[in-house]
Amino acid sequence: MEIWRELGMTTSQCELGNIQGERDSSSPSSRKTKSIEDFKLHSIHSKIPRMCENVRESFREDIKENGIREPVKVNPKDEDEILDGRERYKEAFDLGIEELPYEVANLNGISPVEYIIKSALLRRHLSKSQKAMLAVELKPELEEEAEKRKLRTLKKGEKDPDVEKKINILYYHTDQEDLVIDPMAGGASTVDACLIMGRDCRAYDIKPSRDDILKNDIREGYRKKANGADLILLDPPYGDKMVDEYGGHGFTGGSDEVGENLDQLAEESYEALSTGGKVVFIFGNTKSKKGNGDIWAPDLYQLFRDKGFETEFVYHAPYKGHSNPSGEIQQKSRDIYIFKKE
Ligand SMILES: C[S@@+](CC[C@H](N)C(=O)[O-])C[C@H]1O[C@@H](n2cnc3c(N)ncnc32)[C@H](O)[C@@H]1O
Repeated sequence: MEIWRELGMTTSQCELGNIQGERDSSSPSSRKTKSIEDFKLHSIHSKIPRMCENVRESFREDIKENGIREPVKVNPKDEDEILDGRERYKEAFDLGIEELPYEVANLNGISPVEYIIKSALLRRHLSKSQKAMLAVELKPELEEEAEKRKLRTLKKGEKDPDVEKKINILYYHTDQEDLVIDPMAGGASTVDACLIMGRDCRAYDIKPSRDDILKNDIREGYRKKANGADLILLDPPYGDKMVDEYGGHGFTGGSDEVGENLDQLAEESYEALSTGGKVVFIFGNTKSKKGNGDIWAPDLYQLFRDKGFETEFVYHAPYKGHSNPSGEIQQKSRDIYIFKKE
């Protein structure tokens, strides 16, 4: 039995909305077409109510007359998996339509499951009460997803200082929907801050800690998606600090190696940024543990200036437990440099 019936809805409670789906905001170049046989549905779709029969009939007539006008949205990590457009897919399948237009969904930092649920809740063919009931029905899935993404800041009363720091940076140095790139995303504080602040985030790491971080070794360059970025956030491991943790890979090594990596990073960040775009560079002076080179802030500062960046701002951000209320010289601190591509 369909869920909307189980929830006690009648067909008259169905709303007739934009029956071909969301407003189509895609550009023709992002649309592709392939055989309908190639597609599959994500399993969470089985929890979303189908269209009411009366709406489905009009929908079918519309497709017979006009074909499929809106592309279905697919999972960026599996382009066969439909996240949004189940009804279009099913009706097209039943009508014997052989090819289906599709485009890759912009998940904007959320998981595929959350994307499906969000699209379903926005869908106009669900009535208000259906949407409310659906939200209750899918609450466990949403909670599980939030847990997976460790959205610590959104949990009651808890605040993560790393996420808070990124929220502040985003507040002062970006606008809504700006493209933010974190090529060494670590624990994903940038991803969570972007989600909270409504920024479009692409995060990468040599050792991704979550599904919403893609694997990339930044020494091999930025991924194409980084081109035109409004803000790039750089928080690499310095010197030989983490050499054991990264098994000798990454940015670790002696000062020459790190210097070379940073030189290339500064240059490629400049190229990837849009004009007016900014680099956020989190840096603490690093004394070598193994005696093969120290890394000092003035050298790194100059390195970015030499690539053409202007200095926009410098914030002081002590490490946890290193702020010193006694007034003595602070042992260890980090600075956050904001560089701008004029
Ligand atoms: C200091 S942590 C970043 C912390 C992050 N800002 C956060 O808030 O959790 C440095 C990260 O750089 C990553 N990394 C090291 N070398 C890399 C490389 N060559 N390419 C991409 N990521 C790298 C590490 O895996 C690590 O997660």
